[in-house]
Amino acid sequence: MTETRADERRVALAPAAAREYKKRGWELRVQAGAGTGASFADDDFREAGVEVVAGRDPTLEGANVVLKVQPPSMEEVSALPRGCALVCHLNPLSPSAEIAALAERNVTSYAVELVPRITRAQKMDVLSSQATVAGYKAVLQGADAVTRFLPMLTTAAGTVRPAKAMILGAGVAGLQAIATARRLGAVVSAFDIRPAVKEQVQSLGAKFLEAELDEGAEDEGGYAKALSEEQHQRELELIAAHIREMDLVISTAQIPGRPAPVLVTKEMVESMRAGSAIVDLASESGGNCELTSAGETVFHHGVAVMGPSNLPAELPFHASEMYARNLAAFVCHLFDDEGRTNPEDEITAATCVTRDGEVVNERAGATPAGAAEQQR
Ligand SMILES: NC(=O)c1ccc[n+]([C@@H]2O[C@H](COP(=O)([O-])OP(=O)(O)OC[C@H]3O[C@@H](n4cnc5c(N)ncnc54)[C@H](O)[C@@H]3O)[C@@H](O)[C@H]2O)c1
Repeated sequence: MTETRADERRVALAPAAAREYKKRGWELRVQAGAGTGASFADDDFREAGVEVVAGRDPTLEGANVVLKVQPPSMEEVSALPRGCALVCHLNPLSPSAEIAALAERNVTSYAVELVPRITRAQKMDVLSSQATVAGYKAVLQGADAVTRFLPMLTTAAGTVRPAKAMILGAGVAGLQAIATARRLGAVVSAFDIRPAVKEQVQSLGAKFLEAELDEGAEDEGGYAKALSEEQHQRELELIAAHIREMDLVISTAQIPGRPAPVLVTKEMVESMRAGSAIVDLASESGGNCELTSAGETVFHHGVAVMGPSNLPAELPFHASEMYARNLAAFVCHLFDDEGRTNPEDEITAATCVTRDGEVVNERAGATPAGAAEQQR
């Protein structure tokens, strides 16, 4: 169905992914115009064997499984067929009236954010595919805001030195940001509290900035843990020592289930040159920069502090293709050829949020600290 959030241009089904469902014998329906924002025409869906239906309610009528990108609004929940399955983002770590309403409507809902990060589920991992898009797009938006060239240029009008970019947090989004900034010709350095990423950073041609942190910044699952106050101070000193030289900073640092760590203070922004830019990908979980305002660009001492809130939607064609492919792999895993699910299956159990009229996922509705514990 067509997404209704104002800044959402992605769609949960793309023609290439539709072919995957068709191979399994699924009948598919898409709301007319649902792909327009992502540059998919209704005819592209028809060619892939998808029925195109005018209007949301006729599209949903009798559906067994509904695919979406954004969590449903209350109005959308009440339009879902009773007893259907819903697969989309659900923000499952924040208690919501919509999740309770899904249970009341007897909808079996699956949160794509909860797909476990295990090798078997890699092709279902929307967090990774959408973080790849965000990391790429963050550099393009930042480069656009910076008042200097990124590459080195030798011209009759003079020689331009390459810009310096720093990436804070080298997970999926950060590594893509490093690769993109390098392709644009910037000199790139990166910092992460997980020492395991040093080699990956270096293999992309960037310098890894090392803080002397004690063991234990990483959990058994490879995720970052919150640092002690002393360790946090040490990383702030390291960042402060380098940031004043930077033209572009991309920050991506997150701790699952907790507010994002503050890595760039107001004083650090004031130490940067006018015309530089910071793109804060953690804006929706509180921001890595003290001055970030989610969804806005704030100028402070001539530095643009950008807090984009839904970057994957700004590259909607490929973000949708990747999301839809992840979803097809996930849905084809959830349901067998007779449309049955196995609630005991590891991936099914980890992602199912509501079933049989109840909220069944212990992580859904947990407090942030509790959710972080459960992520470990
Ligand atoms: N299927 C899989 O096996 C799979 C898929 C994707 C990611 N992963 C793993 O999950 C982990 C995290 O991936 P992600 O991109 O979703 O991470 P994320 O979005 O949760 O965090 C982004 C990065 O910020 C870093 N960070 C957190 N606090 C920081 C701080 N105070 N200072 C600096 N950096 C900080 C994290 O270490 C991480 O690299 C990685 O180990 C990745 O390899 C596994």
